[in-house]
Amino acid sequence: EDPSISPTPPMGFNDWSRFECAINQTLFVETTDAMLSRGFLAAGYNRINIDDCWPAHERLPNGSLTWNETLFPNGLPWLANYVHSKGFHFGIYEDAGNATCGGYPGTLGHEQLDAETFENWGIDYLKLDGCNVFPSTEQRYQDIYGEWHQVLTALQHPLIFSESAPAYFAGTRNNTAWYEVMDWVPLYGELARHSTDIAVYDYYGNDSAKYWDSVMTNYGFEVLLARYQQPGYYNDPDFIIPDWPWLTLDEHKSHFALWASFSAPLIISAWVPGLADDVVEFLTNTDIIAIDQDALTLQATLVSSDENFDVLTKNLANGDRLLTVLNKGDNTNTTSVTAARIGLVGDGPYTAKDLWTGESSAFTSEMKTTLSTHATGIYRISGVNATIPTGMIFNTANKRC
Ligand code: GLA
Ligand code: GLA
Repeated sequence: EDPSISPTPPMGFNDWSRFECAINQTLFVETTDAMLSRGFLAAGYNRINIDDCWPAHERLPNGSLTWNETLFPNGLPWLANYVHSKGFHFGIYEDAGNATCGGYPGTLGHEQLDAETFENWGIDYLKLDGCNVFPSTEQRYQDIYGEWHQVLTALQHPLIFSESAPAYFAGTRNNTAWYEVMDWVPLYGELARHSTDIAVYDYYGNDSAKYWDSVMTNYGFEVLLARYQQPGYYNDPDFIIPDWPWLTLDEHKSHFALWASFSAPLIISAWVPGLADDVVEFLTNTDIIAIDQDALTLQATLVSSDENFDVLTKNLANGDRLLTVLNKGDNTNTTSVTAARIGLVGDGPYTAKDLWTGESSAFTSEMKTTLSTHATGIYRISGVNATIPTGMIFNTANKRC
C-alpha cells in the first residue's frame, strides 16, 4: 500500500449484501441521491461501489469488458459521471480469475486493458475478487494480485485496490501468525478481506440468529488481525448491513461501533432511501465516525474477554484512548473496566465521553458500564496524560513491510 492512496478507511455504499445480483441503474441513481439527501456524504460516506453482476456475458470484439445494457441502459461511464456530479467517487468489482463469483467474465489475462477501461470510465476503486483462480494456491493469488498492483500503480491516478484474495486461503492459515509468512497483501493494496461474506439473504433466509452470528464470526476472525493494520492498509471485515430486519437496533449499532473501533472500511449495503431515521442517525454519528477515521487508523485490540464482555481499546491521534465494550451475553449486564486494563496508569480522573449519547462522566480507577444484550458501549477517554508502561503496547508494534 501507498498510504497516500487511502489515508483513512474508505466509507460508502456497496450493493452486494443487500441486493446480490438484483441491481440496475435506477438502484444506483436512487442510492446516490439518498446518500446525498440523507446526510451520508456530509458524514464522510463518499463512495458508491458496484459489486458483481454488472458485466455483459461477453467482452466486446476489441477485448474490452462492457456492462449489461439491460441493467445499465445509459452505461457505466454515464453512471460514473452521475455519481461524480453528486460529489461521490465510483468503485467497481471484478475478479482475478476466469470468471467472477457470479459467473461473469473475469480479468485473467486482461489486467492492463481492464485497468485502462476502468480508468477511462472514471472509476477509482477496484474490489478484485478471487473466485475461479486455478490452481487456487497462495502463490497463484500472489502472482495475479502482484500483476494487478503493477498495473494499477502505473495508472495516472492509482485506484484503491481492495483485495479479496486472503479470504480464499484464510481457512488454511493460523491467523495469529497471518503475515509472518505472507507479507505481499499489505504491499499490493489498501484493503484485504479475510473472513467470509457477511450475512447474505440467499444463504440465511429468515433465520434471524444467523445474522448476528455472521457479524460475530467476522468480528471474531478479524479481531485477531489488529496488528497487521498499517497506515493506508485496512483489514476488511465486510459490509455494514443496517436494514436487515433480523438484527435488533442494538445489534446494528454494535456492528457499526465495532467496525468503527477497528478503523475498518464503513461500506453500507442497504436500501438507503428506505433506511429508518434512527438508523441514519447512528450511521452518521460524527463522534463514532471520527473513531473510524482517526488519523492513526489503528484497529482496536482486545484487552479482555469473558463469557459476557469483550473490551477493546486503541490510541487516538490526539492522545485520547478509545474504550469499546461489547455485551455478547443474552442479558442486560454490568461490567467494570479498570483504568489499568486499557493502559491508563495515572491517577486520573479521566473523562469518558459516551459516543452514543454525547454525555461525559469522570472516573478514576475503574469505569462501570451497563449494556443490554448484544449492545456495545463506545467511549472516548480523555485526560490520558500518562505514558504506557513497558510491556503494554497498544498497536504501536504494527508490522511494517
Ligand atoms: C424497492 C424495494 C427496496 C429496494 C428497491 C431497489 O423499492 O422495496 O427494498 O429493493 O426497490 O430499487
Ligand atoms: C464473493 C464476495 C462478495 C461478493 C460476491 C459477488 O462472494 O466475497 O463480497 O462480491 O462474491 O459474487
